Amino acid sequence: MILSVVAIIISYLIGSISFSVLIAKWLKGIDIRDHGSGNAGATNTLRVLGKGPAIFVLLLDALKGVAAIWLGVWFSIGLSGHTMYWVPALCGIAAILGHNWPIYFRFRGGKGIATTIGVLATLCIVPTLIAGVFAIASIVITRYVSLGSLIFVTLTPIVLLIQGYSAPIITVSIIIWLLAVWRHQTNIVKIFKGTENKIGSKADKGG
Ligand code: G3P
Repeated sequence: MILSVVAIIISYLIGSISFSVLIAKWLKGIDIRDHGSGNAGATNTLRVLGKGPAIFVLLLDALKGVAAIWLGVWFSIGLSGHTMYWVPALCGIAAILGHNWPIYFRFRGGKGIATTIGVLATLCIVPTLIAGVFAIASIVITRYVSLGSLIFVTLTPIVLLIQGYSAPIITVSIIIWLLAVWRHQTNIVKIFKGTENKIGSKADKGG
């Protein structure tokens, strides 16, 4: 029990490493949260710093999710039943919470999607790939990254249910969906108003 709590806390601390903030500071001496959409994530890194740094941030933020799940698996060795699934799953949630509300950066973080990709890809690769294909297609068609992110987190629990995954994984995917919708409130309003920024367009200033 104590080991599980330790794993969850470490996962939160790993998730709190905000790579977009660090890389923007390192490359340009700026706080990425004062630029573009103000979000500490890969999309805003693309907007503010360009493709190379954005890919780097995407991979590193996703790796935080992968690391959290493996930490949970490692710390739950010896546990039995559903507990051994709950610990990694809760570690994944903790990493996303860290990314969104990072302890090292005054709790101003991102929207959790890259870390979510790492978490879900490690927990359930096939549903993640299926949801990912639809998400990427929607981004290519609409150029709204936020819409693709929302389609991704909405489809994952549906695919998990259809494929009969275990309760901890389905529950975690629903919590992830709630977190993502919560963090994308501004984007959702803008999508409905038709004012959401299209990635790659000259007018894309985030905000
Ligand atoms: O994952 C974040 C993305 O969905 C939206 O980012 O910067 O356009 O609000 P942004």
